[in-house]
Parts: sequence; structure tokens; C-alpha cells
Amino acid sequence: MRINVKTGGIAAASGDLLAIGLFAEGAGAKGPALPAGVRGLDRELGGVIRSALATGDFKGRLDQRMLLYPSGNAGKTSVGRVLLLGMGPAQGVDAERIRRFAGGAASEARERKLGRLVVLAPRARGLRAEDCAQALAEGAVLGAYRYDRFKSQGKGGARKTANATTTLLFGSPDGVTQLRARARKGLFCAESQNLARDLSNAPGNELPPAGLAREARRVARETGLSCRVIRGAELERGGFSALLAVGSGSANPPQLIVLEHRGGRGKKKTGPLCIVGKGITFDSGGISLKPSGGMGDMKHDMSGAAAVVGALRAAALLRVPAHVVGVIAAAENMPSGTAYRPGDIIQSRAGKSIEITNTDAEGRVVLADALDYATKRFKPEAMIDLATLTGAAMIAFGPWATGAMGNDEDLIEEIRQAGEATSERMCPIPLLPEHLKEMSSPVADLKNSGGREGGASTAGAFLKEFVGDTPWAHLDIAGTGWTNRRTPYHRQGATGVGVRMLVAWIQARVQQNA
Ligand code: BES
Ligand code: MN
Ligand code: ZN
Repeated sequence: MRINVKTGGIAAASGDLLAIGLFAEGAGAKGPALPAGVRGLDRELGGVIRSALATGDFKGRLDQRMLLYPSGNAGKTSVGRVLLLGMGPAQGVDAERIRRFAGGAASEARERKLGRLVVLAPRARGLRAEDCAQALAEGAVLGAYRYDRFKSQGKGGARKTANATTTLLFGSPDGVTQLRARARKGLFCAESQNLARDLSNAPGNELPPAGLAREARRVARETGLSCRVIRGAELERGGFSALLAVGSGSANPPQLIVLEHRGGRGKKKTGPLCIVGKGITFDSGGISLKPSGGMGDMKHDMSGAAAVVGALRAAALLRVPAHVVGVIAAAENMPSGTAYRPGDIIQSRAGKSIEITNTDAEGRVVLADALDYATKRFKPEAMIDLATLTGAAMIAFGPWATGAMGNDEDLIEEIRQAGEATSERMCPIPLLPEHLKEMSSPVADLKNSGGREGGASTAGAFLKEFVGDTPWAHLDIAGTGWTNRRTPYHRQGATGVGVRMLVAWIQARVQQNA
């Protein structure tokens, strides 16, 4: 999508769909009033907005939509349709409500296969215009997203023209350079989130571990990241026994993918920021086979990996002055004659032995090697892993929040704040000594699955054994990586959660270190 920013009023509005966000008026009012800035335009359109509002049907409730067809087009205006979108009460408007507004507009344009969307920036008191610009761009790009590459009719021209350009119109003529810069940032972040959604939505047959590696290499080539993929004998030599064990049941061999953004070179003596992703391209459960209902959703068990690719892409495009490393442990968890079994005792790269009590607890096993590799190879200043790790986190938080835990309270708080700023909510949960005790084995250093109780925390406690002293946080995105609910900028399927938050976190770190 192309995003244009125009300032200085809406006199020359022209496009297939003009989106106007309106705040709900106080109780008792019939509905929102026609904003002063829109009156002239409405006259040119034959007064269609005024008469629609006069009916009182449009209350301005959050996400309310009303589509209007102008009865005229005078002056320089040429507007095919007007879409009124409710923004809720004017008080306390934040970036998320702006994002939802633009998302609703772009989604409507996409549905109607309209190529030119014009979005009138709402006058949001308490929100800086440049923050508004970024949120509008994000909403527009996210709201237009569809996963339709396997729909025959989606491959034609209609798909290319739908939402080809979005123009953001700002009333005030001030600060256009700044507004453009922030709209561009929003575009990069949201496109990267859409890339993460594409990777997660891709079915297991389309994107096995080697396919994920190929996509990482492509993104690296396009954005100037470096990419290294370790597989086969090199994984064996590198001691990645746990990753290899999980992948051993599949004909599609495991891959360790390393993406690197070397920004801010020479500025710092400390190690890079590391983000580690679980990349199980399909999780059948292995020999501890999952029940068949909903098993297909486990194609998104690489959503942590997808967030890593998305965040690295955005960091590269934004030229963030920081050294950021992404590490992905990619494997397919399948049952077969060569698969690892319950009861097996396997080695890990860190030298700790693991008793496999459930082959469906595979995420922590592959992450054990990835976290150990990242810790020893890069000596990170801080490390975050993202993983669709446990059903327990999904049950606890649903699609509304990510479970956050780790060994460093300050880091967890930093991430939580980055998530608040980008509307990707995180809830801290404890890692207690008792959780680790639950993972002790009579025959090995650790076992890979505890009981049902405290499942998200016991998984986290297992991971903690592989990070040494590195300040580390673990994000369980099992609930937030996928949604069955439709919102203005989300649809059924992968959410791309984590990308916006990670970019915000990395940038906050840069400012802190400056
Ligand atoms: N990938 C699943 C967790 C998951 C469940 C992600 C639902 C997204 C939605 C993970 O590999 C898994 O199977 N976890 C088991 C662990 C158990 C066997 C200790 C679980 O949570 O049931
Ligand atoms: Mn599993
Ligand atoms: Zn899994």
C-alpha cells in the first residue's frame, strides 16, 4: 500500500472512499454534530453527511459504521462514497482508537475493492498529530490485510488495485515532514506485522522449516539484514541435540535461523538485543498426538518466529541504531518411526539432559537450544523469546493478553510498557522456585512437561534453565497469536502479535542507551 500525507484541509478531497471519524456526543444528544472542517466539503457533496446525521441513526459509538453515497460532487471534490466511523467519546482518545478507525476504513475499502482511500485525520485532543499519523497508517495497512493467496479469484487484478493508495488528510498545515516520517514508520511496522501474519497463516505444507528459512533469507536480502541458517550436520556439530530430537519425526528437517541487524555500529561495548522465536511450522503433538479437532490451527505454532522476522524487518527498514539479533528454532513436530518418544532422555546444547515425558511439550525443547545458542554466541544485553508455548496461557488470557515472565523485573516492565504503547497487552505471571521443582526428573536433569497446574509458569521455569545470567523475558503468545474474532484491523487467523511491541521496545532501549 502507498500512503500519502496531505495537510491544510480537505478542499481537494478525491478518492473512491472518504472516511470520516466522529466522536460520540454527550448523553442525550441526538448524535455527533457535523465538524466545522467538514461543512464546506459536505455542501459540495450535496449535504449527504448533514442529512445522515440529522436522522440520529449515527451515534458515533466505537466502531459504528455508516456508508453514504454523495448526491453531488462539486468543486475539486470527487468522492465516490463517504464512510462515517464511530470513535466513541472524544475524551481519552488514544492511538488505538485512531488505529481502529483507519482499520475499519481500510477494511471497508478492501471489501468493496476500492483502490483510493482518503482518511480524514480526526482532531484528537490529547494526542499529538504525528502519533495520530503513525496510528492511521498502521490501521490502514493492517485493516486492508487478507490472507487470500490461495483463493483463485484473489490472484487476479482486483487484488492488486484494492487499497492501492491511502491518503491521510490533516486539517492543520503544520509539520508535514514529521507527519510523513511517522506515517512511513507506521507503514513499515504494519507491513512487517502483515508479513508475520502471512508467515503464521501459511499452512504447514507451504512453509516447512526450510520454507521459513527461505522466507527469512528473502526478507534479509530485501532489507539489508544478514541471515545465516544452520541445518543438518552443522546442527549436529553445534550440539543442537534437542532441536534435532523434536524434528526427527518429520521428513522436513529442522533449521536454526539467525537474522542480524547491525545498526548503531561501534557505539556500544555491550552485547546485542536478542529476540528468539519458537518456529514449530506444524505441531501435531508428535507421538503424544493431539486430538484431531482444531489440530490444523497448529500451523501457526511458529508465530513467535514470525514476530522475530517481522521485527527484524522493521528494525532494518527504520534503520534503528541498535544491534539486534533474531534467532529462530524451526522444526516440525510429527509422529513417525523416527520420531522422538515419551520416555526418551535427550541431550541439549547446554549440556543438560531432558527426559521427554510428553512429545507435545516440544516448544520448550527447541527453545532450550536456541536460548543457549543466543546466550553463548551473542552475550546479549537483553533477550526476549516469543512462543506459542502453552494451552495454559491461552486459557488464562485468551486472545486479550500475552503472558510475560522472566528473570528480570525491569525488563518485564519495559516490555509491558512497550506493549501498552502499541496496544499489545501483556500480563506478568510469576516464575517461582516451585515451578522449577515441578520440572525435575528422577532420571535426567529436567523433564519437559509438568502437570496441568501452572502450565505457563512451569514451561517458563524450564526455559529459565537455558539463559544463564542473561536478562531475559519469555512471552507466551499461545492466546494472542491467533484470533477467531473480527475487529476493525484483525480478522480470523494470525494476528502478527509482537511486531509493533518489539519495535517500540528496541527504540526505547536505543533512547535509554543514548
Ligand atoms: N503449541 C502448543 C501450545 C498451544 C496451544 C499454542 C494452543 C497455541 C494454542 C504446545 O506445543 C503444546 O502442545 N503445549 C502443551 C504442553 C503440555 C503437553 C505440557 C499444552 O499446553 O497442552
Ligand atoms: Mn505441542
Ligand atoms: Zn507447540
